[in-house]
Amino acid sequence: MSTLHPVSPEFAARARVDKAAYERDYAESVRDPEGFWRRIGQRLDWTRPYTKVKDVSFDVDDFRIRWYEDGQLNLAANCLDRHLAARGDKTAIVWEGDDPNESRRISYRELHAEVCKAANLLTNLGVKKGDRVAIYLPMIPEAAVAMLACARIGAVHTVVFGGFSPDSLAGRIADSQCKLVITADEGLRGGKKVALKINVDEALQRPGTNSVETVLVVKRTGGAVAMQAPRDRWWSALMDGQKAEHEPVAVGAEDPLFILYTSGSTGKPKGVLHSTGGYLVYASYTHECVFDLREDDVYWCTADVGWVTGHSYLLYGPLANGATTLMFEGVPNYPDSSRFWQVVDKHQVTLFYTAPTAIRALMREGEAPVKKASRASLRLLGSVGEPINPEAWEWYWRVVGDGRCPIVDTWWQTETGGILITPLPGAIDQKPGSATLPFFGVKPAIVDAAGAILDGATEGNLVITDSWPGQMRTVYGDHQRFIDTYFKTYPGMYFTGDGARRDADGYYWITGRVDDVINVSGHRLGTAEVESALVAHPKVAEAAVVGCPHDIKGQGIYAYVTLKAGETPSEELRKELVAWVRKEIGPIASPDFLQWASGLPKTRSGKIMRRILRKIAENAPDQLGDTSTLADPGVVQNLVDERLAR
Ligand code: WTA
Repeated sequence: MSTLHPVSPEFAARARVDKAAYERDYAESVRDPEGFWRRIGQRLDWTRPYTKVKDVSFDVDDFRIRWYEDGQLNLAANCLDRHLAARGDKTAIVWEGDDPNESRRISYRELHAEVCKAANLLTNLGVKKGDRVAIYLPMIPEAAVAMLACARIGAVHTVVFGGFSPDSLAGRIADSQCKLVITADEGLRGGKKVALKINVDEALQRPGTNSVETVLVVKRTGGAVAMQAPRDRWWSALMDGQKAEHEPVAVGAEDPLFILYTSGSTGKPKGVLHSTGGYLVYASYTHECVFDLREDDVYWCTADVGWVTGHSYLLYGPLANGATTLMFEGVPNYPDSSRFWQVVDKHQVTLFYTAPTAIRALMREGEAPVKKASRASLRLLGSVGEPINPEAWEWYWRVVGDGRCPIVDTWWQTETGGILITPLPGAIDQKPGSATLPFFGVKPAIVDAAGAILDGATEGNLVITDSWPGQMRTVYGDHQRFIDTYFKTYPGMYFTGDGARRDADGYYWITGRVDDVINVSGHRLGTAEVESALVAHPKVAEAAVVGCPHDIKGQGIYAYVTLKAGETPSEELRKELVAWVRKEIGPIASPDFLQWASGLPKTRSGKIMRRILRKIAENAPDQLGDTSTLADPGVVQNLVDERLAR
């Protein structure tokens, strides 16, 4: 049974959206999406106003998603230039370094000047509208400057999380044919150095990456790096000579803004492409409503810029809204597990947005590290990335928020560009573990396996039946894959890949992925990616990977490995394989459990039955279900026995 946390009357009294407004505007937004989004689109500055608003068909034979199609704008001008008159001296970015003694405040005026210089720099290096630029940087202000500079000249950025391996970076660079890479000598996280430039050097030796002409290197730690002339150039040396004025390039609303690679159930990560106008309308409007943004807020989203949350809710949404956004280079437990709350006090953070995995990890350390800080500035807490279990929710509410701050549990995806299901803090009563109700204009539905829409309290697969402006537009370079992945399973609807339950109050409870994607500490991974990394090892014959429950990470990675004939399992080899995956993909993909398997359960047609492997990984061998279609049922008993022997 979940407790209800009703909207507090004090919060509601000052909120941007109260219950009556939510009900009225939601009804309008789905009755007349055209009129609703025509009005909301006005929140941006358009160099050429749009006359069209929505042109959408989810029909696979006549497919299109277009918003504000004939409008023109510049994203960076919307995030910077238009704030200069009223907010020039307001802090745009509060930067908190990995080292608690290091922080900086960057005003809108200063950020604008830096972005103009970087835009001139990129232009001088031959980067033009539509060119792709890879950004592989730590959480330093240059990451924001680089992204905004790309947007300012209409170049398409693809940010690659600094924790990804050279191979993962190379795959992304090759897929999007980047012309330029922006990186740093090294990153710094939790006192440890991350060899970014060395990784770039390695990545650029991989096939398919010779589109890269220039590598710009930001000096972060001063660690030794090899600079390869004429390819590699120091960022600061080139920035110094640039003018701090730049005329933003007007782009069409549907022109691409960024590509962000994310894992799906099959194949390599896909390049999710977002366009400019609808995306920014949606990111900024959701940011304002969901976080109940006020002019004097200090907003902190702990996500890395390498993930979609870092795009929409660390940078673009907040900056489009003229907000003060905090960027944190470090990790929650360095120098100690009070760090988040020390930072909250230091910068008087009012709105705080993080992931359940961080909350669970901090919860394990007890209340003392939290209570050491005052946290009196906080007025709202947010959660994103994975389902939040009610225990973690209650702890977040009671301990971190002192029972005073509403919690917004925001459900969305890389593909959706912005939040789709969430409580609005002054309007929607919260239930721990439920993302609650749809945002304006969003029409979720629950379908059964055959695609029939289910009414009332029910459970099934989550679809969205109509478009919203922030929706992704294509898979970069493979439009058919976009249509096949998201619109074929349930014709006429966007399939999220998530399962959900809807209760009698109409609240949505996301139950997790129903495809072969696992969510490890809020990071998406395709089981197929981890499997192909494993089978690339010379001693591995076959591998199958599933998610399993994990106290801190939400889901852990459980790998079954069959060795080639003549190879013997050993503790040493187990460690070697875990390290191998880490090196192939990145630390986030390290298997938590690796079980030797003499054989894998397969159907007669050779398909691995993951349902069974999941149950064994969960240690629920009594729930294996029907195993009669297996080619060799004996395999299962072996796996169960081996699991128990662990
Ligand atoms: C999961 C992150 C439950 C979900 C913004 C989704 C969530 C996937 C929530 C997308 C939430 C995200 N409650 N599950 N509040 N937020 N998810 O693309 O499975 O990295 O499909 O985007 O994370 O992950 P992605």
